[in-house]
Amino acid sequence: MSIIAERLSRIKPSPTIAVSQKARELKAAGHDVIGLGAGEPDFDTPDNIKEAAIAAIRRRENKYTAVDGKPEMKAAVVAKFKRDNGLDYKPEQITVGTGGKQVIYNAMMATLDEGDEVIIPAPFWVSYPDMVLLAGGEPVIVPCAQNNNFKLNPDDLEAAITPKTKWIILNSPSNPTGSAYSRDDMKAITDVLAKHEQVWVLTDDMYEHLVYDGFEFVTPAQVEPKLYDRTLTMNGVSKAYCMTGWRIGYAGGPVDLIKAMTKVQGQSTSNPSSVSQAAAVEALNGPQDFIAAHNEVFKERRDLMVEQLNTCPGLSCHKPEGAFYVYPSCAGTLGKKTPDGKVINSDEDFVTYLLESEGCATVQGEAFGLSPYFRISYATSTEALQDACARIKRACEALQ
Ligand SMILES: Cc1ncc(COP(=O)(O)O)c(C=O)c1O
Repeated sequence: MSIIAERLSRIKPSPTIAVSQKARELKAAGHDVIGLGAGEPDFDTPDNIKEAAIAAIRRRENKYTAVDGKPEMKAAVVAKFKRDNGLDYKPEQITVGTGGKQVIYNAMMATLDEGDEVIIPAPFWVSYPDMVLLAGGEPVIVPCAQNNNFKLNPDDLEAAITPKTKWIILNSPSNPTGSAYSRDDMKAITDVLAKHEQVWVLTDDMYEHLVYDGFEFVTPAQVEPKLYDRTLTMNGVSKAYCMTGWRIGYAGGPVDLIKAMTKVQGQSTSNPSSVSQAAAVEALNGPQDFIAAHNEVFKERRDLMVEQLNTCPGLSCHKPEGAFYVYPSCAGTLGKKTPDGKVINSDEDFVTYLLESEGCATVQGEAFGLSPYFRISYATSTEALQDACARIKRACEALQ
């Protein structure tokens, strides 16, 4: 009999973590690899945030805090939701976890019974379906076509809702496409959701601040206040504040849901790091101007990537509104042969070819639930991106 639980057979390891690991290993072995797989900013955590953490250590903030976040942390989140999203939450409606990932995991563990359905628009962030499966639920994947900018069509949403639907998970701007819902796009979705009272909304707003060309970010409970009582508004400091390693995420929602999520956290990890909380308080309350400066750079990189990728034979790349990803189609490479005589039959074959022939580490669209595409993270230096584009172009031109 195996020591491994049956439930583990339902899920797979994170493919994005696997790609980053593979790129690191190839680099360590002396290969010339450009990592375009990691979903984290190449910018460093701003100094004021680091100093706040150092001060917290000096103040001996090295004890357990409340499981779901210390009062100052919750106050900073309450103020953030009011300031940025016009949403009113009380401290008891806030939970803080070890990264946005834990917050979503807690929500699934706290709410799903066997057979409960969770609607997940595809392409999706890789962890959603696996978290649903681990918690005993059923992911219901709804494809979102490129010709609708990878956004959910309201009719497809309506058709996917059943009496067993417990949640929908929305993510705008999206990992992996960078697509974001305008107010009108979001209203069309919330109009459908408002009619189905059994459906709760988990909105993953992790990339809220990373939008370009003056795009206005919106979140469901703000666009449709009728959904406020059944929405979990989730966010975190990882991406906008360049704090992926600090592991702080948070959410606001109805008190009963938040209490249930805290119960899960209380029997797993307890509080997120006390020092990281001090840093996150400074991130949320301190100066925000570096975000706009970073966005200038991200926007230039996005434009560079879209322009360059569209010159590669067999690829076509849409222009996303936000995040730091592009999601080009590699449909035009399928059926072609590599110089070694291998036929490209899938996006996985294509990304393997890119890695082996040119040392470009990207992630196959299959991992995000929509093929044939691949994801490139442009959160790396502009020089590396220019080099990567030249390599990708060479690889595409070498296909016959
Ligand atoms: C869409 C999305 N949600 C949540 C997360 C998790 O963020 P964290 O690092 O705070 O756990 C990520 C990280 O890649 C993400 O891309």
